[in-house]
Amino acid sequence: MKSLAVIGIGRMGGRHARNILKGVVKNARLVAVCDTDKSVLDGFCQKYQVKGYENRKEMLEKEKIDGVIIATPHYSHVEIAKDCLDKDIDFLIEKPVSVTTKEARELAKLLKEKPQITGAMMLNQRTNRMYRMAKKLIDSGKIGTIRRVNFIVTDWYRSQFYYNMGGWRASWSGEGGGTLINQCVHQLDILQWLIGLPKNIYAVCKTVKRDITTENDVTAIFGYDDFECVFTASTHEIPGTNRLEIAGDNGKIVIEKFKMRYYLNKYSEPVVNQRAKRDYGNKKDKKTQVYSYGYGLTRLLYDAIYGQQARVLNNFVEVLESKDKSKLIADIEEGIKGLTIINAINLSAWQNKSIDIPFDENEYEKQLEIKIQEEQKIKKEKADIAGK
Ligand SMILES: NC(=O)c1ccc[n+]([C@@H]2O[C@H](COP(=O)([O-])OP(=O)(O)OC[C@H]3O[C@@H](n4cnc5c(N)ncnc54)[C@H](O)[C@@H]3O)[C@@H](O)[C@H]2O)c1
Repeated sequence: MKSLAVIGIGRMGGRHARNILKGVVKNARLVAVCDTDKSVLDGFCQKYQVKGYENRKEMLEKEKIDGVIIATPHYSHVEIAKDCLDKDIDFLIEKPVSVTTKEARELAKLLKEKPQITGAMMLNQRTNRMYRMAKKLIDSGKIGTIRRVNFIVTDWYRSQFYYNMGGWRASWSGEGGGTLINQCVHQLDILQWLIGLPKNIYAVCKTVKRDITTENDVTAIFGYDDFECVFTASTHEIPGTNRLEIAGDNGKIVIEKFKMRYYLNKYSEPVVNQRAKRDYGNKKDKKTQVYSYGYGLTRLLYDAIYGQQARVLNNFVEVLESKDKSKLIADIEEGIKGLTIINAINLSAWQNKSIDIPFDENEYEKQLEIKIQEEQKIKKEKADIAGK
């Protein structure tokens, strides 16, 4: 049985804590929670009769904790993880690992010095059965050499009401970005998990029809050795689309929301081309077998009730019990990969040029600081106008 604590018991951390209390996370008990907002903390602790701390260092000092779940706003993730490391406590960080890859790498370096400690990431889309099947198909070579990838993610609709709600959200100073670091962090992780990191990125980021300082509309081209991937994301469109299409020599994978289709060609395209005795290829050679899969009703229900995140929590506890880190769904290094894409997209959009990966991480921090300064100026101007 592992003793867990949750730091940050807002929307997501509160859910994690409740899942542990309900027994959804096997072989785990909740020993304490921590939140810097006293009213949130008191409300939770009174309702669920759990020990609460406003100060995390005090909690880490006083309680016997096997694993900490970090579910605070993004800028605090790494410093909290470092406190856990100092106390030799395993930890799981909510996405994203950090706001900048430079800071995340510092954590990864410290973690390497303590190989007995587990540093896990909440990248819960990796539990999605369809993405897992896609990974198997790609890794086994079934769809052949990749030729083209398109990912459209426009179904994370957010109203102005959402943006007006939270102090830290959709700002450079509070969240470290907008739709990319908040919502698309999941899809960009899936993308790099399936097809690897691109060599370069060119991106255009915009703010469309919302009063926010960060992006809510992104179009990016990811350059790979032999193909390109077009990534489109927005949080202002109705109806939204969530569609991943990966085309290879031998077939194609299409994942749309809760459905997956896998097309297996009778002959790979180079063979079709070679055998062609007419301009459009021989009809018989171009035949394709189509396989369809769904998300699975039981899985869908589980996710609706407890969240995909509960699967990752179970995996975290399993790894703590078995001490076999190779079984982790995602570790800190994996978290850095998705963040690399996010930082590179931002840098490309800010500098209006293609960014090679790896990019200059110091430059990214410098540019981010400029964005924060500009944002603060805008906020002050608005406050001055409102005060008049
Ligand atoms: N995996 C997912 O699908 C998913 C979904 C939503 C949010 N998240 C992530 O969860 C994290 C929290 O998001 P949220 O929506 O729950 O935010 P939230 O604002 O609802 O909750 C954050 C809580 O952390 C507390 N807090 C802030 N700084 C703290 C600190 N230094 N120490 C202790 N407590 C602190 C706040 O008082 C608040 O109660 C973010 O990283 C977010 O990206 C993940």
